[in-house]
Amino acid sequence: MKIFEQIYSTVTHLENLSLTRQRQEVNVDSENRVTIGEQHYINFSSNDYLGLAQDPRIKEWYKTNIDKYGCSGSSSQLICGYTSAHRQLEQAIADFFGREDALLFSSGYLANLSIASSIIDNKTFVFQDKKCHASLIDAARLSDGKLVRYRHNDMTHLSSLLKKYKPEKSILMTDGIFSMDGDKAKLKELIEISRQYESLLLVDDAHGIATIGDTGGGLLQQQSCSQQDIPLLTGTFGKAFGMSGAFVAGDKRLINVMQQQSRSYIYTTALPPATAATLIQVIALVKESKKLREQLITNIATFKQGLNKETGSDTHIQPIIIGNNEKTITAGKQLMDKGLFTVCIRPPTVEKNSSRIRISLSAAHTALQLKKLTDSLNQVIN
Ligand SMILES: Cc1ncc(COP(=O)(O)O)c(C=O)c1O
Repeated sequence: MKIFEQIYSTVTHLENLSLTRQRQEVNVDSENRVTIGEQHYINFSSNDYLGLAQDPRIKEWYKTNIDKYGCSGSSSQLICGYTSAHRQLEQAIADFFGREDALLFSSGYLANLSIASSIIDNKTFVFQDKKCHASLIDAARLSDGKLVRYRHNDMTHLSSLLKKYKPEKSILMTDGIFSMDGDKAKLKELIEISRQYESLLLVDDAHGIATIGDTGGGLLQQQSCSQQDIPLLTGTFGKAFGMSGAFVAGDKRLINVMQQQSRSYIYTTALPPATAATLIQVIALVKESKKLREQLITNIATFKQGLNKETGSDTHIQPIIIGNNEKTITAGKQLMDKGLFTVCIRPPTVEKNSSRIRISLSAAHTALQLKKLTDSLNQVIN
């Protein structure tokens, strides 16, 4: 039937551009390795930046909580899926990030999407950095608002767009640490601009929370930004916290608006209570994990010293930009042949001609593993 041919042709088009995505069936172990078939590879693609996903203490807490609460959230939080574990977790998040309140979501994607139906209406202009994560872009796209994107970290461009559109109602959105480039948003300047134009500032600090800041409070803690400065903070527990689930945190009234209106909050099954209860314990652990954050800083420095190339990032996300899609795939295969699992990132995740190997560094990587990585990269990429 014609309809099938029309649908299938979208993949043929991607194949012609070397843009099809390949899943790898992997098994992950506690030595920072993935196994594919019989073959072991050192894993430099995981967002488990502190190595907590395999932490034996967390595994034990999770098992105990499953025994206590069962396995499922069972219904939406507004029906009967909201337990005392969820409330305590909301409070723990609010305390941890210095905010009045927080709302829980099953994933960071859903947390960001929640803005679409709660905060943005047809009078709202949404200003976003061009390198914002897809979930923020989708929040704007699925809303009734107008999306305007400014050049990456270009505050002059942002100001000129705000001047041009003179929005009566606007929201400004950015990643904290950018997920594919590893550089940081210019929070102080964004705060100033958001005040000048009375725009609501939202920061998604998915990659900053737990990894940076004195107690792991992320980029906002590192740069001393309060709830007054940045009214909405979103984050996921699927990365450095080694778990899953996510949150939006802010003042009580904003959080209440979201609870009333967010479709990705209302129409989905709650985070399992066992996950919520474990996350309370994990937040306490993260606060105390200064040594892991220090080790991560050491590992970033070791990587940068060993690599014969400047990446433009000083965080645990290190982009090795190659540009051409096929060349990036070839480099990825050569690194695989050397026993390294380093996944290629291509458009539309990143801009055209900026395909890259995205290296994720973890506090759990050993000096030997890092040396193998930089030696191999120096050979493969020149
Ligand atoms: C900046 C950013 N926000 C949100 C998400 C989505 O988080 P989750 O994986 O929990 O859906 C990601 C993860 O890919 C991300 O990089």
